[in-house]
Amino acid sequence: AQTPVKVTVTGAAGQIGYALLFRIASGQLLGADVPVTLSLLEIPQAVKAAEGTAMELDDCAFPLLSGIEVTDDPNVAFNGANVALLVGARPRSKGMERGDLLQANGGIFGPQGKAINDNAADDIRVLVVGNPANTNALIAQQHAPDVPAERFTAMTRLDHNRALSQLAAKLQVPVTEIKKMTIWGNHSATQYPDLFHAEVGGKIAAELVDETWLRDTFIPTVAKRGAAIIEARGASSAASAANAAIDHVFDWVNGTAWTSAAIPSDGSYGVPEGLISSFPVASRDGKWEIIQGLEIDAFSRERIDATVRELEEERSAVRELGLI
Ligand code: NAI
Repeated sequence: AQTPVKVTVTGAAGQIGYALLFRIASGQLLGADVPVTLSLLEIPQAVKAAEGTAMELDDCAFPLLSGIEVTDDPNVAFNGANVALLVGARPRSKGMERGDLLQANGGIFGPQGKAINDNAADDIRVLVVGNPANTNALIAQQHAPDVPAERFTAMTRLDHNRALSQLAAKLQVPVTEIKKMTIWGNHSATQYPDLFHAEVGGKIAAELVDETWLRDTFIPTVAKRGAAIIEARGASSAASAANAAIDHVFDWVNGTAWTSAAIPSDGSYGVPEGLISSFPVASRDGKWEIIQGLEIDAFSRERIDATVRELEEERSAVRELGLI
């Protein structure tokens, strides 16, 4: 029998965790023929709740789920891990300054990065979901010098899927007709969803919509969708975030011709090397590659530069705080 893949999920007792774990256990993360063992990492106060979720996972009798552990010790959780989904993070509370937020998350993602460095399997792949995702991924990566840098990624797939959905609704086409969608930059309100490379039925999407809609409706709707969900649901996106995490890892492992993911920059498209920034990416042989050779016009350039500038500011801030 195939050796199970160990998948570690942090923040397992949270909302995204609850929407994510059952799908992983059912085979949707890696493939319907890949057995998994789950490791659920939580803070001590939430271990009991995570154990409750583990009981429910047991009660599903998933054929592919070969084991579950629940722990509050990162060294245990990441021991032998092949995939790590870093979901648990410190949310911004009212009146919290950015520096405090980065500091609090540095206290989570630094030690988790070190625990991954010291304990994970050689093929470890890390997806950071917890916000600020790009910079949390950078912090974890910087504490894991023995892990290849490109194994640390952050999630912009939810933004990508939101962009597909908004464009499909506007053009009244199925989402499957849209190709080459791209989210650039930071998973934040500065992100840039790009319709100048997206194609619908072989035509450039930006040419199928008017510029006012693109600029004043599409871009802000995608960028602020998280806030709109909170407003409507009274809670932040959970099932859609879990779905995007599944999409990201599935494509990373199984390959894709084009999607969006935040991965360490190699300097492509003027994004400073080392920033974990969203790009148009393909995945081949289990590795992300930045899609090269796209022409970037002035409209896109300005927006890519703005979101990348924000990532640089976050990197400077965590450097100044001594977090990396
Ligand atoms: P939640 O508050 O329901 O759950 C977070 C869980 O993380 C809690 O159970 C908490 O105990 C746990 N946790 C906190 N510190 C931890 C640590 N050091 N180790 C292990 N577990 C820890 O939050 P929810 O809704 O599940 O969201 C999780 C994160 O995902 C948030 O940071 C949120 O902003 C982010 N997010 C990111 C998205 C993206 O597109 N990148 C989309 C939606 C949410």
